[in-house]
Amino acid sequence: MILVLFGPPGAGKGTQAERLRDTFRLEHLSSGDMLRAERASGSELGQRVSGFMDAGQLVPDEIIIEVVLARVIKPGSGMGYLLDGFPRTLPQAQRLDEALAAAGSRVDLVLSLAVPDGLIVDRITGRLSCPRCGTVYHLKNKPPLQAGVCDHDGETLIQRKDDTAEVVQQRLTAYHAQTSPLEEYYRNHDVLGGVDGTADIDAVTRELSELVRSKVVSST
Ligand code: AP5
Repeated sequence: MILVLFGPPGAGKGTQAERLRDTFRLEHLSSGDMLRAERASGSELGQRVSGFMDAGQLVPDEIIIEVVLARVIKPGSGMGYLLDGFPRTLPQAQRLDEALAAAGSRVDLVLSLAVPDGLIVDRITGRLSCPRCGTVYHLKNKPPLQAGVCDHDGETLIQRKDDTAEVVQQRLTAYHAQTSPLEEYYRNHDVLGGVDGTADIDAVTRELSELVRSKVVSST
């Protein structure tokens, strides 16, 4: 099964991905995490994408398509995938569909989280992440047990470089201009499922899980 988590920056894609991954035994593939790992490794690719990410702009399609598709199309893999942050443009969606079709597969369900811009800035500027295990927290909505420390591995939590109020505005502009039109694309492909991303984290998980279960039932 191939699922796509879709929504604006800070909609809760990463938060929900952690939960759906465990419940449905899917491999979580986050394009943002892949790019941050490249950057942390100091690779040439990491250096090429750094400026786009810090400015809140999308990384060019030809770069991100290569990075993500190499991970999705793995011959012989019987696992399901949960794509988070990819695709984000029409060319990315089309290339993903082509690559999956060539491997005899398709996107089964797109889980779209609706959150208005007004809530996004607070979510993003209050976010803390664990640099070791990737767990995501929020100062108010999902605080760690001990301030500034990851519950799972005791690592000091960090704020992402692009999680400032100024960069968030640019990320929202990019989302509305380049990414939100994909909802129409997936609606036309009859795979779009939407949930209210403003509900509390557990309620969103329940709604998403229901959508996934319905999909599993209808495809068997
Ligand atoms: P990426 O890492 O994908 O960032 P994003 O899409 O902007 O998404 P975020 O990680 O910011 O948010 P999220 O939806 O995962 O929310 P989260 O669960 O953390 O991309 C970063 C950059 O990489 C891009 O700007 C671009 O440069 C580049 N890039 C990546 N993919 C690309 C692509 N395909 N093409 C081109 N460039 C690409 O939640 C946010 C906060 O809210 C957390 O603190 C959380 O605790 C809290 N929260 C979550 N849910 C709730 C809730 N229901 N109620 C209250 N609080 C909540």
